[in-house]
Amino acid sequence: MGWLLHYMAREEEERERKYSDWTLFKRVFGMFRYYKTEAAAVAAIVLTASLFSSLIPILMQRTIDYFIQPGTKDFVNELMIMGGLYLLFIILNFVLILTRTIFFAKLGQKMIYRIRNDVFTKLQYLSFDYFTETESGRTISKVTNDVDALGELLTTGIIDIFADFFGLIWILVIMFLYDIQMTLLTFTVIPILLIIAIFFQKRVRAAYRRTRVAIAKVTANLQETISGVRVTKALSREGENIERFRDLNQENFAANVQAAGVSSLFMPIIQIIAALGSTIVIIFGGYAVISLGTITYGELYAFLEYSNRFFMPVISLFTFYTIIQSGFAAAERIFEIVDEEPSVKNHSNPFKPKEINGHLELHSVDFRYQENVPVLKNINLVINQGESIALVGQTGAGKTTITKLLSRYYDVSEGEVLVDGRDIKEIDLEILRKNIAIVPQDVYLFSGTIMENLKFGKKEAMDDEVFDVCLILGLHDYILRLPEGYETDVKEGGSRLSLGQRQLISLARAVVADPSILILDECSSSVDPITEALIQKGINFILKERTSIIIAHRLSTIKNASKIVVLEDGEIIEEGTHEKLLLKKGKYYDLYETQLTSNIIN
Ligand SMILES: Nc1ncnc2c1ncn2[C@@H]1O[C@H](COP(=O)(O)OP(=O)(O)O)[C@@H](O)[C@H]1O
Ligand SMILES: [Mg+2]
Repeated sequence: MGWLLHYMAREEEERERKYSDWTLFKRVFGMFRYYKTEAAAVAAIVLTASLFSSLIPILMQRTIDYFIQPGTKDFVNELMIMGGLYLLFIILNFVLILTRTIFFAKLGQKMIYRIRNDVFTKLQYLSFDYFTETESGRTISKVTNDVDALGELLTTGIIDIFADFFGLIWILVIMFLYDIQMTLLTFTVIPILLIIAIFFQKRVRAAYRRTRVAIAKVTANLQETISGVRVTKALSREGENIERFRDLNQENFAANVQAAGVSSLFMPIIQIIAALGSTIVIIFGGYAVISLGTITYGELYAFLEYSNRFFMPVISLFTFYTIIQSGFAAAERIFEIVDEEPSVKNHSNPFKPKEINGHLELHSVDFRYQENVPVLKNINLVINQGESIALVGQTGAGKTTITKLLSRYYDVSEGEVLVDGRDIKEIDLEILRKNIAIVPQDVYLFSGTIMENLKFGKKEAMDDEVFDVCLILGLHDYILRLPEGYETDVKEGGSRLSLGQRQLISLARAVVADPSILILDECSSSVDPITEALIQKGINFILKERTSIIIAHRLSTIKNASKIVVLEDGEIIEEGTHEKLLLKKGKYYDLYETQLTSNIIN
């Protein structure tokens, strides 16, 4: 297990390196473009606040040099004024910082709101392959944990960085105006600072990336365990699950401790260097005041203050570096989703038919989910408008895959699919999918009432339409017998209902949407034979006007199809009517015979 986790982590980290720091920086800051006015307002406040605060040492210098000199007359009034000014500056600065924090918190929240919506929207449009290739828990972690981490950067991190950055610029300007030589002297420590920063940069970033990966694994594991709770209980795997979770949680713990360790080491080192800078100012400045007389006491005081203030933002910039790294590591993962291109895209100038009649053709279709693993081979099939055909074949033969190609969940690898004589890739995806309904093998109902679920494919459906469909399918009385009838809440995934019941509702849901093409993929496999026989009449009625494809294991239910297509290992091996195929004594005949005899034994 350990090696696997290790491998996964490595794989993820390698994949993540596709964004450089600079790209991330541009993109994260690029997000402010939607909020130009607000960002400008905040910037103006920050600029003013940092100006006020950097004027304070000048105020002190003037006070010292003009009014605090031994042996001169007493300057009580002037000192009162200077003291008042000092207080005023501090208060102004405080008010400005307060406004900026409130302002910016709101702006940051707006951005988080927007990012979450963007990521969710993107997820709605991604194609099937994304969801089969990506663990859902990892995606959830990106939308929750990573958006939060980026949010922290946007709400608190960036504002402090800007404040420090502006502060730094003011201080630099003032320092150079005061004394170029002294300023340059203070800066002799900067190269050391840079070397250390570069040394830490890589390590901090790697450490924070590990924390993002670790928390994603914890979330993914949690999600999977919750979804698979039934299997866990059935096979008594609780102990192993706890152990596995502990491992992942331990990894998360270790990653965070390490990240904290790396970044906490950084601070004191920088502080020592800053102190070195101050020492230089004291020694050389003190000499200049006393022996050379080139600067005054007040100026020395101001200079010391500025050089301290210069290193303060430098220190906090480096402290924020960890927030930045954490935020960037998160941003990287979010951009991965945002940049993901759906593999099935709508045509740039799609054909938008008023209605789809339902004439379907597959020409020499090959399909593979993965390179070199052919799933469908040279499929040729014509289904006329209003015709009802059946697909038969063993599990894994490729039946469901054919239905996925017809709804364009995937694009063919070779050959073409035509709908009403047009290449399916040219037809508007939304119109296509509105007109094709698949009742899938694995039913999913959403939390909410049965009525809401039944209207899922057609929001505007009237209750009466829904009742009619349920009456035809023989479902109506059954639903009315539930405690709250159509208003019964089925809970997430439909967990309140039996699988057979869910299948029937899923069937009715597709019919309410009233598509011109209906695909039933083993849609009553968990319904008992008696109920199945009962709904069969309803199904036949519903299929009358529509093109339909039925996949069923109980061959008795498809006997009446106008054509039966037998698939084996992704190839069509027989096709014809029930009678013709029986006479042929091929694969279909074998399947049918087996079922007959096993039914007798049953
Ligand atoms: N998302 C997928 N990725 C890779 N292989 C898949 C995927 N879905 C199905 N397959 C493979 O394609 C083959 C056909 O599957 P499917 O069409 O579901 O069969 P059937 O519906 O006839 O039981 C199977 O071998 C299956 O393992
Ligand atoms: Mg299938």
